[in-house]
Amino acid sequence: MNVILDTDRLLLRTFTTDDARLIYELNADPDVTLYTGDPVSDLSHAQQVLDQVILPQYALYNHGRWAVHVKPALEFIGWCGLKNRPERNEIDLGYRYLKSAWGKGYATEAAFACIKYGFEKLGLYRIVGRAMPGNVASLRVLEKCQMTYIGEEIVDGHPAKTYESINPLIL
Ligand SMILES: CC(C)(COP(=O)(O)OP(=O)(O)OC[C@H]1O[C@@H](n2cnc3c(N)ncnc32)[C@H](O)[C@@H]1OP(=O)(O)O)[C@@H](O)C(=O)NCCC(=O)NCCS
Repeated sequence: MNVILDTDRLLLRTFTTDDARLIYELNADPDVTLYTGDPVSDLSHAQQVLDQVILPQYALYNHGRWAVHVKPALEFIGWCGLKNRPERNEIDLGYRYLKSAWGKGYATEAAFACIKYGFEKLGLYRIVGRAMPGNVASLRVLEKCQMTYIGEEIVDGHPAKTYESINPLIL
C-alpha cells in the first residue's frame, strides 16, 4: 500500500488498477453522485474511470485523488485529493464518500490534510475547491478547511461556488 497521508483517524493511499470495485460501489449510489453528475453504470465503466481518469494523474503529476481508509481496520470509505486541471490552470481539491461515512468529520479531516500536503510537500501555490450551490455539506467542508470564498461561476456547464487557499509559505 502506497500511503500518502496518515491523519488521526484516516490513511490516504494511491489507488491501483485493482480498485475498480471500490469506485463502482461509491459511484453506484445516486445520493453520492447527486451533485457530481458522474455515476458509473457497471464495473467495467468503473475500471475505465480508474484507468483513464484517476491513475494517469499520478503518472503525470505527483498527486491525484487518493483512496481514504479508516484506521485501524482500514475500511475503505471514499476518496479525497488534489487533481490537476491544466485546462483551467488549477489544482482542484475534491472528495467523495460512501453514505455510511458521512457526518463523522472524515471529509473535513482528509481535505484539510490534503491542502496541508499540497502546500508543505508539493509546494503548490493555490488550491481551488468548488461545489454546486445546493451541496451544503460540501460547501461546509470547504469552509471548515478555512478556504476563502471567491464567488459563483459556471464550471463544466454547472453553477459552482468557488473557494481558494493560497500557500502561506509562498506569500
Ligand atoms: C460532501 C461530503 C464529502 C461531506 O461529507 P461529511 O461526512 O458530511 O463531511 P464532514 O462530516 O467532514 O462535515 C461536513 C459539515 O457539513 C455539515 N453538513 C453535512 N450535511 C449537511 C447538510 N445536509 N446540511 C447542512 N450541513 C451539513 C456537517 O454538519 C459538518 O459541519 P459541522 O461540523 O459544522 O457540523 C459527503 O456528503 C459526500 O461524499 N457527498 C457526495 C459527493 C460530493 O458531493 N462530493 C463533493 C462534490 S463538490
